[in-house]
Amino acid sequence: MGTILITGGLGQIGTELSELLISTYGNDRILVSDIKKETPNENIRYTRLDVSDADSVRKIIGENDVTDIFHLAAILSATGEKDPFMTFNVNLQGTQNIYRAAKDFDVKKLFIPSTIGVYGPSTPKDLVPEDTQTRPVTMYGITKIAGEMLGDYYFRKFGMDVRGLRFPGLISYKFPPTAGTTDYAVDMIIHAVRGMDYECYLKCDTEMPMMYMPDALNAVVDLYEAPRKNLTRCTDYNVGAYSMTPVTLHREIKKYYPEFKVRYQPDYRQEIADGWPHSIDFRKAQKDWNFKPAYDLELTVKDMILNLRKKFDC
Ligand code: NAD
Ligand code: SER
Repeated sequence: MGTILITGGLGQIGTELSELLISTYGNDRILVSDIKKETPNENIRYTRLDVSDADSVRKIIGENDVTDIFHLAAILSATGEKDPFMTFNVNLQGTQNIYRAAKDFDVKKLFIPSTIGVYGPSTPKDLVPEDTQTRPVTMYGITKIAGEMLGDYYFRKFGMDVRGLRFPGLISYKFPPTAGTTDYAVDMIIHAVRGMDYECYLKCDTEMPMMYMPDALNAVVDLYEAPRKNLTRCTDYNVGAYSMTPVTLHREIKKYYPEFKVRYQPDYRQEIADGWPHSIDFRKAQKDWNFKPAYDLELTVKDMILNLRKKFDC
């Protein structure tokens, strides 16, 4: 059995996905990588890998008998607008480096997550399907839609088994998100649990689709394991669970912390959020590989608060 390589494995998704893949396929098969020098978890196989460096990508894939890749390394939307040139290098050149090496070293299967960031201001807002206007205006969105299209190309041209889905904003408690536009959700819940007021960088009525991490992880594994013959799409399955605004989240948190206060001070991230859909249509994922989220907003907040109280001992 060959090696399963995870890139960007020390981020919000990678931290939890690597745990899940290790428990499913065994520690020996999983090689976690990231641009960070060291991992906080000494029990995993770890190597530093900058995906924008093509030679390093080829070396790691070539020397480790890599058969499968979960390519998570990326710069997300908010950081992306602060440094668009680095974002281009990591998200697009880095993704091309991974696809190219995967093809040359005969990697069997490659998973790459995409995002609601591929939609743009001209996309309709509600129940948005996969095939619609995708004219993003952020560097994050531009690189992610190009990454999807490149994946489709490698599938069509070289028969490479590339699979991917478009995540909404993800809510999780194990590793805090730091680089996206949807991060306010995790931040708001953490502030409430710690007994602090919260200043939200989006307007109170900014509606976006969201999903809890356990559903996101199940989606990754279910799509990765689905028989190829059942899949009608390649890199762009919509997935999601519910839509919410900062106000609906605040209301839900107040069930546990009635005194919790939020102030609204929109910044540059408002413009990014305004370009994204309010809700997405994920019926294709349901039909092709039985995608079914288990957590609604109520259950998400309940589970987040339970786990954050344990984490912060409060
Ligand atoms: P994250 O920012 O938490 O993690 C990304 C990781 O990539 C970080 O650990 C970072 O150190 C690493 N990285 C950055 N530059 C690198 C480089 N040059 N080489 C190697 N590693 C590098 O992000 P995440 O939320 O874990 O996102 C993972 C993937 O999921 C991304 O492709 C993102 O577009 C997608 N996604 C995430 C969300 C979400 O809400 N978290 C939503 C939609 C899509
Ligand atoms: N959560 C991500 C972001 O806000 C969406 O891709 O950037």
